[in-house]
Amino acid sequence: MRVLVTGGAGYIGSHTCKALHRAGLDPVVLDNLSTGHRWAVKWGTLLHGDLRDAQWVRRVLKETRVDGVIHFAASANVGESMADARKYFENNVAGTLNLLGAMLEAGVRSIVFSSSCAVYGIPEQVPIPVEHPRRPISPYGETKLMGEKMLRWFGEVHGLSWVALRYFNAAGADPDGELGESHDPETHLIPLVMEAALGKRGPVRIFGTDYPTPDGTAIRDYIHVADLAEAHLRALRHLWDGKESVALNLGTGRGHSVLDVIRAVEAVAGRPVPQVPADRRAGDPPELVADGAGTRALLQWELRWDLNGIVETAWRWHKDRAPHL
Ligand code: UFG
Repeated sequence: MRVLVTGGAGYIGSHTCKALHRAGLDPVVLDNLSTGHRWAVKWGTLLHGDLRDAQWVRRVLKETRVDGVIHFAASANVGESMADARKYFENNVAGTLNLLGAMLEAGVRSIVFSSSCAVYGIPEQVPIPVEHPRRPISPYGETKLMGEKMLRWFGEVHGLSWVALRYFNAAGADPDGELGESHDPETHLIPLVMEAALGKRGPVRIFGTDYPTPDGTAIRDYIHVADLAEAHLRALRHLWDGKESVALNLGTGRGHSVLDVIRAVEAVAGRPVPQVPADRRAGDPPELVADGAGTRALLQWELRWDLNGIVETAWRWHKDRAPHL
C-alpha cells in the first residue's frame, strides 16, 4: 500500500515514514522543505513542492495513486502565528483545502490529519477530554480547528474518511539514532535544554516560575515521537478497516513540569544544565495534559516510552548528531 505523507521531511513526518516503511508500506513524501530536511527523507521518494499550488497537488494525487494520506505539512509555531496570521491561514487552511480537493478528484478516501492540543485554548479541565470545548487562542490553533472542520464536512458531504490526531508535546528521537528534532530557530523546551547542557547555547530560560503548579513551572504532556508515529500507522489501518472517522488526543495522560524535564536531562547527561528564571511566555497555559485513554483503546495502541526514554533518545541525537545538522 502506498501512502502520501505531506510534511514527511519534518520531525514527526520523517519518524512516521520510518514506521510506515517498517510495516511494509510505501511512503511518498510531499514537502516544500521550508522547515523539513532533505536528509530526513530516508524511506520513500521526495516530491518537492507546495500544497498552496493547487494544480501541482492535483497532479501529484492523480499520478501517485496512493491508498491514503497522512497530512503533516503545516506551519506549526504558536508564537510565529501571533505575528503572521496570514501565513498560517494560507499554509494550513488553503493548503489543506487544496489537498482535500485533490484527494476527492483522485478518488483517495482516507486521511490522517495532524491536529494539536492548541485547538483547546486554555483548558477548563485537566486531563483534557477529547470532547472539551475548542476555543483556540492563537491563529495556529484556529487553523488546526478549521482543518478538523473541513474534514468533518468533507466526510459528511463527500464521503471522506478521516482521523484527526490532536498532539500534545511531541518529543524524543528515533531510538536507532537515524532521525531527531532539528528546528531553526529552535523554540521547543527539550532541544533547548539539550543544547544548553552541551554548551551550544546560553542557559535555558524557564518561562514562568509562579504558575499554580507544585513547583511553579508549567506542565506539559510529552509524548515520544516514535509512539506518535505508531499511532499514525494505527489510525490509517483504522480507516482502511472501514471504521468511523474520529478526532483523538495523542498524549500520555502524564504531565511533567519544566523543572522535571531539566532534572531528567541532568540525570541522563550527567552534568548540570545552566538555567535562569524568566517571565511567562505569552499564551502559555499552565497545564496541558491529555485524557488519552480512549485513543489507546480505539487504536489498540500502547505507549512504549516515558519521559526518561524521551530524554535518553533525544540526548543521543543531540550529542552525536551528524555534522551536517
Ligand atoms: N519553555 C521554557 N523555556 C524555553 C522553551 C519552553 O520554559 O526556552 C516551556 C514553555 O513555557 C512550556 C514548555 O516549556 O511550558 C514546553 O514548551 P514548548 O515550546 O516545547 O512546547 P509548547 O507546549 O509551547 O508547544 C506545544 C507544541 C505546539 C502546540 C502547543 C499547544 O509544540 O505545536 O504545544 O499549546 F501548539
